[in-house]
Amino acid sequence: MTKPTLAFIGAGTLGTALAEACMVAGYRVLSIHSHRFEDAARLANALPQAEAVSNPNEVTNADLTFLTVPDDVIATVCESIAWPASSSVVHCSGALSLDVLNSAAQTGAATGSLHPLQTFAPGAEHAARLSDITYALEASGNELHDTLEELVETLGGRPQWIASADKPLYHASAAMASNYLVALLGDASRLWESFGFSRDSGLQSLLPLVRGTIDNLQGVGFPDALTGPIARGDVDTVRIHLDALTTSQPDIVASYAAMGKQTVMLGLEKGTLSEDAARTMCELLDAAVNPEGKS
Ligand SMILES: NC(=O)c1ccc[n+]([C@@H]2O[C@H](COP(=O)([O-])OP(=O)(O)OC[C@H]3O[C@@H](n4cnc5c(N)ncnc54)[C@H](OP(=O)(O)O)[C@@H]3O)[C@@H](O)[C@H]2O)c1
Repeated sequence: MTKPTLAFIGAGTLGTALAEACMVAGYRVLSIHSHRFEDAARLANALPQAEAVSNPNEVTNADLTFLTVPDDVIATVCESIAWPASSSVVHCSGALSLDVLNSAAQTGAATGSLHPLQTFAPGAEHAARLSDITYALEASGNELHDTLEELVETLGGRPQWIASADKPLYHASAAMASNYLVALLGDASRLWESFGFSRDSGLQSLLPLVRGTIDNLQGVGFPDALTGPIARGDVDTVRIHLDALTTSQPDIVASYAAMGKQTVMLGLEKGTLSEDAARTMCELLDAAVNPEGKS
C-alpha cells in the first residue's frame, strides 16, 4: 500500500513524538499547524520536507491529518477547517469517540482515532516510546482502517480495534494504570517525609521495588505477582500499618484502605490468604476509615 502523506495540527508532546516517529518510519509529513507558529516551525525544522503553516486550512493538501490538540478543542479545531472529501482526519484521544470529527465526516472525509497506549510527559524525547505498544484504533471506513493498521505496524506497534462505546472504560483503565500509579507513588514517597527523608529520596528508594513488581506482573501475571502482608495473611502487620498511618499521615488512610480491600481480593484469588484472615483484614481496613462504624 502507498504510504499516505501526513499533516499535524498541534505540535505539542504527542504531535512532536508521532510526527518524528512517522518520519523515521518512512512517512512524509507535509505540513504542521499549531497554536503558536514557533512550535509548528520547530517541529517542521526537524522533519525534511515539512512546512509550518499559520492557517489550519493549509494542512488539507495531506492525505491524512492528525489532530494532536488537547481533547477539549478537537471538535472546534475540526470544525474550523473545510475538509475535502478526499481527506482522512484522525484524533488521538483515548476517551473520545469519532463524533467529535462529525464536521469532517459531513463533508465526506474519512474519520478515525489512533490512541497510543503510552505516556508522554512534556519536554522529553519520546519518538522511541511509540514502538512495541498497543494502539487503540477506530475508523469510519475500510480504507482508513487499513491505512491506520499499516501505520501502527510500521511504527512497531500493536493495533487494537476498540469500539466507541468501550473507549471510556478503555481510557479509565489507562488512567488508572498510569496516572494513579503516579498518585500512589506520590503518597508512598511522601511517607518517607514522616521519618526524616525527602519525598524524592523516598521515590528513588521505591523505584527498584516498583520495577521488580512490574517484572513480576510481566513474568507471572495475576494473582501470583502479589506478595506482601495481605497476601500472606499477616493481620498484625496490616494493623501496625494502619495505626502508624492514622497517627502520622491520616489523609493517606483512605487510599491505603481502599487499595487494601482490592489486595484482599487478589490474595483470596492467589489462595494464600484464608477466608478468616481476609474477613479480619477487611474489618480492620473498614474500621480505619470509619472508626465509629457509621453506615
Ligand atoms: N501526552 C500523552 O501522554 C498522550 C498519550 C496518548 C494520547 N494523547 C492525546 O494526544 C492529544 C494531544 O495531547 P498532548 O499531551 O500532546 O497535548 P499538548 O502537549 O498540550 O499539545 C497540544 C498542542 O496543541 C496545541 N493547540 C492547542 N489548541 C490548539 C488549537 N486550537 N489549534 C492548534 N493547536 C492547538 C497546543 O499549543 P499551546 O501549547 O500553545 O496551547 C500544543 O502545541 C490529546 O488528544 C491527548 O489525549 C496524549
